[in-house]
Amino acid sequence: MRKLYVIGIGAGDPDQVTVQAVKAMRQVETFFVIGKGEAKRELVDVRTAILAEHMDRPYRIVPIADPPRDRTPADYLDVVDDWHDRRSAVLESAFAAADGVGGILVWGDPALYDSTLRMIERVLARGVVSFDYEVVPGITSAQALAARHRIVLHGIGEPVRITTGRRLREEGLGAENALVMLDGDCSFTAIPDADVHIWWGAYLGMPDETLIEGPLAEVGEQIVRRRAELRDRKGWIMDIYLLRRGR
Ligand SMILES: C[S@@+](CC[C@H](N)C(=O)[O-])C[C@H]1O[C@@H](n2cnc3c(N)ncnc32)[C@H](O)[C@@H]1O
Repeated sequence: MRKLYVIGIGAGDPDQVTVQAVKAMRQVETFFVIGKGEAKRELVDVRTAILAEHMDRPYRIVPIADPPRDRTPADYLDVVDDWHDRRSAVLESAFAAADGVGGILVWGDPALYDSTLRMIERVLARGVVSFDYEVVPGITSAQALAARHRIVLHGIGEPVRITTGRRLREEGLGAENALVMLDGDCSFTAIPDADVHIWWGAYLGMPDETLIEGPLAEVGEQIVRRRAELRDRKGWIMDIYLLRRGR
């Protein structure tokens, strides 16, 4: 492989694929698709549907089995580091076996809570394979959430913190607007809810898209219940929310 495109494909709505992404996809001969087990099957299907719609010439899909992540309690960063190492080794062999131009389709944008770029740097640092690579930005789930709720992510001139559920629990909300991703535990329930507003969205851009918005004290429990129902029904869920003091 001489060149690799890392292409953001938007957060689930196939219409969020940009013209730039389509142009890059059409250069690609081999797509590497990183699988995440049956629960995430639908996410892989979104990628293959995007390719079927936009590609104008033959291409190969090489599935990459994602090595399991060690879930036993240990230092979080060490666990992630070890997992990234194992993922890089798997990617390295796939890259070594491919000719020409490769591509990886990344959910949302590669710059936001995604390890693809770090893994590619690791593969290159190992020195076994070498190639040029280019990043094509995509619409993030943060943008999809804001658009669906028709909101600005912050008050005039204010900052917005993009964070994870785990860190929201550890650090609290503070005075800022917080956009929370990767939260399997409804961490907003740990935030004193007086005067906090929430804009929540699940499966944004997908057929099961669900939106709830309101004062946290009024809609917090409803979100917890709805999220559990949706997850039980589909077997997986992806959700994101904005928290703001006042409104
Ligand atoms: C591993 S991160 C990837 C983020 C992605 N790179 C992006 O730009 O949005 C996965 C998290 O993104 C959020 N997410 C991604 N797609 C989503 C969607 N369609 N609906 C709701 N949340 C989504 C969820 O918070 C999920 O836990």
